[in-house]
Amino acid sequence: MSEHTPPICDYEDSDYQQSFWEHGGRAYEDAVEAFALRRLLPPGGKAMLELGAGAGRNTQRYQHYQRVALVDYSRSQLVQAQARLGESERYLYVAADVYRLPFVDGCFDGSTMIRTLHHMAEPALALSQVYRVMAPEGVFILEFANKRNLKAIMRFWLGQQGWNPFTPDLVEFAALNFNFHPKAIKRDLQAIGFVIERVRTVSHFRVGFLKRTMPLRFLVGLDALLQWTGRLVQASPSVFVRARVAGKQRDAAGDVLFQCPRCQTVIPGAGDDLVCGGCGARWPFQDGIYDFRMKTD
Ligand SMILES: C[S@@+](CC[C@H](N)C(=O)[O-])C[C@H]1O[C@@H](n2cnc3c(N)ncnc32)[C@H](O)[C@@H]1O
Repeated sequence: MSEHTPPICDYEDSDYQQSFWEHGGRAYEDAVEAFALRRLLPPGGKAMLELGAGAGRNTQRYQHYQRVALVDYSRSQLVQAQARLGESERYLYVAADVYRLPFVDGCFDGSTMIRTLHHMAEPALALSQVYRVMAPEGVFILEFANKRNLKAIMRFWLGQQGWNPFTPDLVEFAALNFNFHPKAIKRDLQAIGFVIERVRTVSHFRVGFLKRTMPLRFLVGLDALLQWTGRLVQASPSVFVRARVAGKQRDAAGDVLFQCPRCQTVIPGAGDDLVCGGCGARWPFQDGIYDFRMKTD
């Protein structure tokens, strides 16, 4: 792997969970995302990888998986997730960069990435890491922010927005915050080796006025009714894709989970600081959280 690492949107010490979700009037968004996940998740699995897990808002929605590895670049987000979910055999907390996942090839049969690709300047690079660590036939659920949404289209047509929602390039509307064209995401996933099984559009009614005036249950029910239309057209601000790992023959061999994000040497062991036998890098394990962040990058 090259030394090149794209920039990271750092959530260290952010109060995102409280300010955005708990006190930010996002009950509608949370409920429609939960509905989409219920529709897309397989009935169960062994090992789920939650990428950009944040404070673990979605983690309990993966209850049919035997184990869940929560990965986030921000250690403080993982501390919040740990406070919510507790320390148990069921959860593995890993501070790491999605672009440099510290796992051996083929070790997860499920994966989700919700509201996280949003921060990736190089989505194909991030998605190829997800593919690498997933097992043959594994199911990956990806949420991405859709640049070709109805509001962006209207603003573009009215001359209120400089960027064109119809072009396939990504748009960085704020520093390290990206919206993507659905066709570009589909192209990237397929080029990497995923087969797209389902597409659902989500958050059709993410409009302040509607959220303030309509009953929550009504808006959520209406969104749930419309989500299937994502297979035909995507004009909502958020899109969920269920993709399956194709073209892979081998699961991870043995019980070893970690590999060095710096030199890709497999690192046996767990439950303690890990030292890479290849490059000598030391990866701390503190208070139940592994730390594979490459601080020198
Ligand atoms: C908008 S939050 C979403 C959190 C959670 N998925 C949710 O929906 O509530 C995005 C998360 O992605 C994490 N993140 C951003 N870039 C990352 C990267 N390169 N590697 C790992 N995590 C990253 C941030 O630390 C943050 O916790």
